[in-house]
Amino acid sequence: KRHLISAADLSRDDAVLILDTAEEMARVADRPIKKLPTLRGRTVVNLFFEDSTRTRISFEAAAKRLSADVINFSAKGSSVSKGESLKDTALTLEAMGADAVVIRHHDSGAPYRLANSGWIEGAVVNAGDGTHEHPTQALLDAFTMRRRLVGPDAGLGRDLDGRRITIVGDVLHSRVARSNVHLLTTLGAQVTLVAPPTLVPIGVEHWPCEVSYDLDAVLPKSDAVMMLRVQRERMNAAFFPTEREYARRYGLDSERMARMPEHAIVMHPGPMNRGMEITAEVADSPRCTAVEQVANGVSIRMAVLYLLLGGAEPAVAGNRTTGE
Ligand code: CP
Repeated sequence: KRHLISAADLSRDDAVLILDTAEEMARVADRPIKKLPTLRGRTVVNLFFEDSTRTRISFEAAAKRLSADVINFSAKGSSVSKGESLKDTALTLEAMGADAVVIRHHDSGAPYRLANSGWIEGAVVNAGDGTHEHPTQALLDAFTMRRRLVGPDAGLGRDLDGRRITIVGDVLHSRVARSNVHLLTTLGAQVTLVAPPTLVPIGVEHWPCEVSYDLDAVLPKSDAVMMLRVQRERMNAAFFPTEREYARRYGLDSERMARMPEHAIVMHPGPMNRGMEITAEVADSPRCTAVEQVANGVSIRMAVLYLLLGGAEPAVAGNRTTGE
């Protein structure tokens, strides 16, 4: 049985297969009828114990574009608020015949528990667990970088060899950073983390990346700069400099952006704290790919669902797409 729990589990071949499949899925989005029949009769459950805008909507759009039935479950307003456990929730979903469960949970490890529990038969996809991982975010980020940095419409089979990626900000609480470090290095990129010393995770010396505390020194050597959201909801105030001090030392404004090479892009997974880690001017500039990342997320999630659920028709490109 196959699941997607962690970007660290993906080999280079796995990652390239997902990115290449997403390129083919992106062509579906360009057509007048944005739908393929490949997962007709399959059921995808979006099981969200934590808030989400982009991830939940794009998994729903992805499943629907593949003609799957979609059940959206939000812990808020469900029997979870009456104390129902993950196990009993999972058994309920299993009774509904879920072929795939896309889970976001505040506890690191919840998707792993679900995948290895025996409570459900279907594939499990991690849509973000605590401060652990968010593998489909890293995949859509890599997809965006490959398109922008390897060349427009780079085509299939290219990777990120030698590209220099800088990830900036609240690394301590960031599942996006952790997944990206694993995936981007697997794809051949060199990753540098820049963060205040209090927001660097313990054990980071074992991660396959560099760490710097000097954003201005790293920017001129970056092909992509990924700004992370400051996760105040997970933070003890003692860990955090003042907002003004944070923005001054680690925020990206136009002056700082001008230090980046001309071809370099600014990324943000969203949601953004405008005025904190990124100014509105930078967020709205043509160099910022935040909205493009969201669009690419649908193609990546289509590819992941398609590959996990084994769509009946392997080819989606060219004349064989019926678009029904
Ligand atoms: N990037 C991301 O995971 O956004 P959401 O929390 O809105 O899903």
